[in-house]
Amino acid sequence: MKIFVDTANLNDIEEALRRGFVEGVTTNPSLLAKEPKGNFEKHIGKIVDLIKEHRDGAHLSVEVFSSDPKEILKQAKKFKKIFDYNALSIKIQIGWNELEVIHMLSKEDISVNCTACMSVTQGIMASRAGARYISFFWGRIRDGASDDKFLKQRQECLEKQALSEEDFNPHLIVSRARKMLTQDNLGTEIIAGSMRGVVDIRDAGLAGAHIVTVPPKFFKDMVSHFKTEEVVQQFLSDFQKWLK
Ligand code: E4P
Repeated sequence: MKIFVDTANLNDIEEALRRGFVEGVTTNPSLLAKEPKGNFEKHIGKIVDLIKEHRDGAHLSVEVFSSDPKEILKQAKKFKKIFDYNALSIKIQIGWNELEVIHMLSKEDISVNCTACMSVTQGIMASRAGARYISFFWGRIRDGASDDKFLKQRQECLEKQALSEEDFNPHLIVSRARKMLTQDNLGTEIIAGSMRGVVDIRDAGLAGAHIVTVPPKFFKDMVSHFKTEEVVQQFLSDFQKWLK
């Protein structure tokens, strides 16, 4: 499992890249909107500079901010041109009209990260259309279990598409999609995003995600363990006693 960092915050990106365990950066319009108001192109340019400085060649996903297919196509080509970075992937949401854009871009060798996927069929269609990456939203697939509106929509979806409870289980969705990609020899990689805790990160990797994109707030918990702290303290104090 590769680890990407899921943020548009320059400081968090640099802190993660400097430690070497991160092989890519994923952003989205909501993550960008958390940053101080500024110029979108300049901000992405700064992310590109940080990547080039600390880990040249690492992945960068930048998402389009339109739902109009013509505009999506235009933005995708523009991003490719202005950011001029080899490992740039354009994030495009899954959808009927979007599939055509994904296909057009893939024919021009433009890498697409098809985002907001919640089901196996969405992921496979995106892969067949030419997406280089498919992003499953692990947390959002199951978010809202205690919310009446979500439960109603879920029930309607279950009935309309003859789905089952399993179709709202992110572990099964990612593992089934991975199985299909492997059995059909498709080169698309799965990115699991929308992480809600450290356990999700481990589980998404075990389910078969090639990549897990992680909000930086989880990194320190991922690398800590109270037993590690305990043993390190013990070693230091035993050695200090011996030195005296
Ligand atoms: C993934 O590519 C997305 O940027 C992200 O993980 C979405 O997460 P959210 O559900 O926390 O918005």
